[in-house]
Amino acid sequence: MKFTHDAIERNVGLLVILTVLVISIGGLVEIVPLFFQKSTTTPVEGLKPYDPVRLSGRDIYIREGCFLCHSQMIRPFRAETERYGPYSVAGEFVYDHPFQWGSKRTGPDLQRVGGRYSDEWHRVHLINPRDVVPDSNMPAFAWLAEKPADAAGVSAKMSALRKVGVPYTDEDIAGASKQVEGKSEMDVLIAYLQGMGLERKGVK
Ligand code: HEC
Repeated sequence: MKFTHDAIERNVGLLVILTVLVISIGGLVEIVPLFFQKSTTTPVEGLKPYDPVRLSGRDIYIREGCFLCHSQMIRPFRAETERYGPYSVAGEFVYDHPFQWGSKRTGPDLQRVGGRYSDEWHRVHLINPRDVVPDSNMPAFAWLAEKPADAAGVSAKMSALRKVGVPYTDEDIAGASKQVEGKSEMDVLIAYLQGMGLERKGVK
């Protein structure tokens, strides 16, 4: 059998193997450079690792599945930037492990929600969204106000994040639990929301 295009197309096994090989190489060529490109690995100006309070809030966001209805990824289209603010860039997410881009928008994108409302607005909204947005179909998360945030566990989380490149210092980690102590899960979640996307606000 001559090794021609025709021969490959007639031999299903060989076609499958070669197709997988070609796709794998194509995939690697697209993905691998992203680990080294400045635009994806350099934090945007002003971006800091999450402080212990916001980091704890981020964990509540993940645990409660907020990402199932909310994205954190503003696309570079007029309709999006008019509504939400400056579009997202990769450098905003270098300390997010895992990132919360999401792909479902039952509710609005949250990446630039920081500072848009008062803490009190968020509190009322999380306890019962209908109290501030009458037509809202967002579920209530009232119990978060009753539960204390996990102060004891936050140092371990920061140490783990340091292993994957988040530049926490020993002092940051040592003092972490104290900052979270006495706060409810709702307090830390609101702190997380209020810090969201501020670095690029005002950038057009
Ligand atoms: C079942 C889908 C759903 C889930 C789950 C959900 N939301 Fe929502 N969310 C919505 C919808 C719909 C709106 C728009 C109406 C409103 O403001 O209540 C919204 C609005 C919001 C807003 C206001 C955004 C703005 O720009 O006005 C915030 C903040 C928010 N959600 C936070 C959260 C957080 C935090 C969680 C997880 C604890 C969460 N949401 C879970 C559907 C959801």
